Amino acid sequence: MRIRIKPVQFYSSVRFWAVVLPLFWVSAALAQSSDSTAVPNAQLAGKALNARVEALLKQMTLEEKIGQMVQYSAGFATGPVGSKISYDELVAKGAAGSLLNVIGAEQTNHFQHIAMEKSRLHIPLLFGDDVIHGDRTTFPVPLGLAASWDPKMVAGVAHTAAIEARADGIQWVFSPMVDIARDARWGRIVESSGEDPYLGSALARGWVEGYQQGDLSKPDSVAVSVKHFAAYGAAIAGRDYNATDMSDITLRQVYLPPYHAAVDAGAATLMSSFNSINGVPATADPYTLTQILRKEWHFDGFVVSDWGAVAELLNHSIGPDGATVARKALEAGVDMDMEGDLYGTTIAAQVRSGQIPEKVVDEAVRRILRVKFALGLFEHPYAPVTPSSEPSAANRAQARAVAAETIVLLKNDPMEGVGALLPIAKSVRAVALIGPLADSAQDMLGSWGAQGDAKFVISLRQALSERLGDHLLYAPGCGVLSGEDEKILLEGKPAPDDAASIAEAVETAKKADVAILALGESADWMTGEATSRTRLGLPGNQEQLLEAVAATGKPVILVLFTGRPAEIKWAGAHIPAIVEAWFPGMEGGHAVADVLFGEVNPSAKLTVSFPRAVGQEPLYYAQLPTGRPAHGDLSRMPANGPEKYMSRYIDEENSALFPFGWGLSYTRFSYGQPTVSKAEVGLPEVAAGRGPGLTVGVDVRNSGSVAGTEVVQLYLRNTSASVEQPVRELKGFARVTLAPGESKHVEFPLGFDELSFINVESKPVVEPTTYKVWVGGSSLATAETSFIVK
Ligand code: BGC
Repeated sequence: MRIRIKPVQFYSSVRFWAVVLPLFWVSAALAQSSDSTAVPNAQLAGKALNARVEALLKQMTLEEKIGQMVQYSAGFATGPVGSKISYDELVAKGAAGSLLNVIGAEQTNHFQHIAMEKSRLHIPLLFGDDVIHGDRTTFPVPLGLAASWDPKMVAGVAHTAAIEARADGIQWVFSPMVDIARDARWGRIVESSGEDPYLGSALARGWVEGYQQGDLSKPDSVAVSVKHFAAYGAAIAGRDYNATDMSDITLRQVYLPPYHAAVDAGAATLMSSFNSINGVPATADPYTLTQILRKEWHFDGFVVSDWGAVAELLNHSIGPDGATVARKALEAGVDMDMEGDLYGTTIAAQVRSGQIPEKVVDEAVRRILRVKFALGLFEHPYAPVTPSSEPSAANRAQARAVAAETIVLLKNDPMEGVGALLPIAKSVRAVALIGPLADSAQDMLGSWGAQGDAKFVISLRQALSERLGDHLLYAPGCGVLSGEDEKILLEGKPAPDDAASIAEAVETAKKADVAILALGESADWMTGEATSRTRLGLPGNQEQLLEAVAATGKPVILVLFTGRPAEIKWAGAHIPAIVEAWFPGMEGGHAVADVLFGEVNPSAKLTVSFPRAVGQEPLYYAQLPTGRPAHGDLSRMPANGPEKYMSRYIDEENSALFPFGWGLSYTRFSYGQPTVSKAEVGLPEVAAGRGPGLTVGVDVRNSGSVAGTEVVQLYLRNTSASVEQPVRELKGFARVTLAPGESKHVEFPLGFDELSFINVESKPVVEPTTYKVWVGGSSLATAETSFIVK
């Protein structure tokens, strides 16, 4: 039977509001997005600049146009097969618009002279390189930099890198990588900012602003390439280059925000990714490359493919031949083919046969030329003479201060009869430094070390011996496992017999007051591209070494040098002090020592969850709710064995060993009761995106005895939405420095950006609901309040 609702009844009925309210939210959301038609990079949209682009375009032959869309690696290879072509000839013909992996004034100027003097139209080359966390001065790896929760500091790193890159003839960096990474098995998690879209977006803005300086024509700025577009970090099972598959809601709510933030910050270029997204390879995906990037975000720069990714479309089986897949990539929105060798060889014929409209080529060329003009390359094509390769003292000092801000104190439990081991007490005389990463300069550089040179690295051993002289004892204990040991991992063979060197390390520990174990991964071989792992424990015999030294009863401090969350369950339970130092860069040894001896009070916080067991991966704090939460209200569960029928593992807890946002200090911070500026806020006020709808305030106090910096974090939960929302989401953070006893009031504005979510129509909306709010020093924050959106 159908029930008819009379008009009056209807207007006041739930069904009326169910129909009308969503329309209102959608239109509010649309109003919000149509507000943002302003171009994200005004320089690229400039009239004078575009007139120059058009004038040049008119003079170009089809071959010259396509030449601009071709990029080759004319130096070392950073992908499977390096091309073997005469680059001099190619450049002279105008058949390459960009080169990568050519470093230094001498080499870049060699090619630039050919382009400027021999090519018909004298269009300068654009030189790109993987400057990822510094060029000559190596800073910590990006995952470490993210742990600072300090976008300003990250911008400073990017700026220094830009200055050094320019001196090396590079005007374009393949950075930042803003892929959300929630699976520690994925080796490239080290290049990311971690698992969270809100923090990831803030850091993405910092990177772009630091590199580009708001003006590409400045001699100290470089163009960025925001990568890898899109959702590369969600490769299934954490296996590099694997497919990704996710709902549009997840794509837009979790994975896209950092790219969008980077575009809004003025990013000049993006790099398309290797993965497919829901069955469409990202390098030929009109939905992400055109619909979202161009139409919704109004991006004016250009898109370069990742290395060989256009040619790899053949392996993705989306076309029978190179010509077809190249056409698909171009028409989807990839403007430049990096090392694919397909644009240069297949596009011209397809334009001539009418399969590809020439205006598609024109548009790609336009986008590329815009960036070249904006960079001022036509006026200043050449690099000045490259200065000495040694990083300056000022840059080294910056690297040291930055690295100290990235080191996370994971644990510092008092040891019976000794107290907390960190900072190392003045009374400590002899220190035993043990472990394969204690003196490995190369590993400190991390993956993508750019022009960083191991001979300028300060290892932990060097730094500690500067402080302790003869009071430092050293024993490597065992190896990390190197590339030659691949069989050990693949075939599950035992690691080499390190019994003798472990025994020696144990004897060394016995002679000291405290043992520092420097353990972790091989930066080159186990972290970064193509280094996915199925086991996340300490490789080789390092766990054995750790347990053997701990068995001496000497106080043990574990310092981890890793590019991902390590599985350290035993250490978590048995080692009193644990520090995550990532790969801390050139000044890493000094920075770690600064923290260990308390000259720097650690303030970094994890941006990735450390699992208890690899089987929990992908592990992240912002989980969606489940109907059977393991730590839910047990009284609402059926009486007969509620603990069985819950969303959990039978052999491990759900929670992280060390969660997102976690990081200790040498002081203590206490939180007051958070307050809201309004207990209720009207939907129109928030939905129209007119400034903050309300603010949440909290008092934070340093209740310990030394000065320290706390990363105050605000988490929200939308308790009732048309699409289920995560159990917690970061929506605000602030670094606050406090003297002992000092308090500060911190306020977080919350508006449309913080309160909206993506609805079933793929639109950002705010709906009436109650938000729970937590403020604290990690994603476990307990100080709670709430507010209502009416
Ligand atoms: C990587 C990119 C990098 C490019 C150029 C690729 O293999 O995925 O991140 O920028 O090579 O070196």
